[in-house]
Amino acid sequence: MKFFVDTANLDDIREAYDLGVLDGVTTNPSLMAKEGISGHDNVIDHYKAICDIVDANVSAEVISTDFEGMIKEGRELAKIDDKIVVKVPMIKDGVKAIKQFTADGIRTNCTLVFSAGQAILAAKAGASYVSPFIGRLDDIGFDGLELIEQIVGIYDNFGFGTEVLAASVRHTMHLLQCAEIGADVVTCPLKVITSLLNHPLTDKGLAQFLADHAKANG
Ligand code: E4P
Repeated sequence: MKFFVDTANLDDIREAYDLGVLDGVTTNPSLMAKEGISGHDNVIDHYKAICDIVDANVSAEVISTDFEGMIKEGRELAKIDDKIVVKVPMIKDGVKAIKQFTADGIRTNCTLVFSAGQAILAAKAGASYVSPFIGRLDDIGFDGLELIEQIVGIYDNFGFGTEVLAASVRHTMHLLQCAEIGADVVTCPLKVITSLLNHPLTDKGLAQFLADHAKANG
């Protein structure tokens, strides 16, 4: 199972990468805006900065919603670094753009996926990753994890090469259930990854070991 960190914050990306278990980074326009990144050149420079930190793939999202615009933007993003995966929204022109990027050898992440039908379209267009948003489905009273399970099953049935990238992962239970279901990737904030470290018995056990060692060694 791959871990991607879902942020445009350079400190968080550095910390996640330093942990040694990071396989990628996902960003989106809201996450870029949250870091105060605006304007064409600043956005490109920020992606460069992320690529300089990690030896892992980096999803960079297009803003255009028409085919020509997405192709132009995606090609420019892909030129930044081999690590870039072009993130494309699940809309009609997005599906066409994914097909074109695939033919051009540019990897894609199809984002804003909320149904199995959308996931089938993304896979048929050749997306490298499909991003179903678990948390946002949960927010409106649907079971996001059920969607992950459904997509994993469908992709297995037909041997689709598209990786299921569980997105909008909000807490450790989401992450663990994605692991049980067999999602290929989860993307989540740094705190979800680091909270996997926590267990009170680990803290208690370590304190005891250190106390016993100190007693025995003066
Ligand atoms: C995925 O690529 C998105 O960036 C992200 O996971 C969305 O998460 P949110 O619903 O917590 O904003």
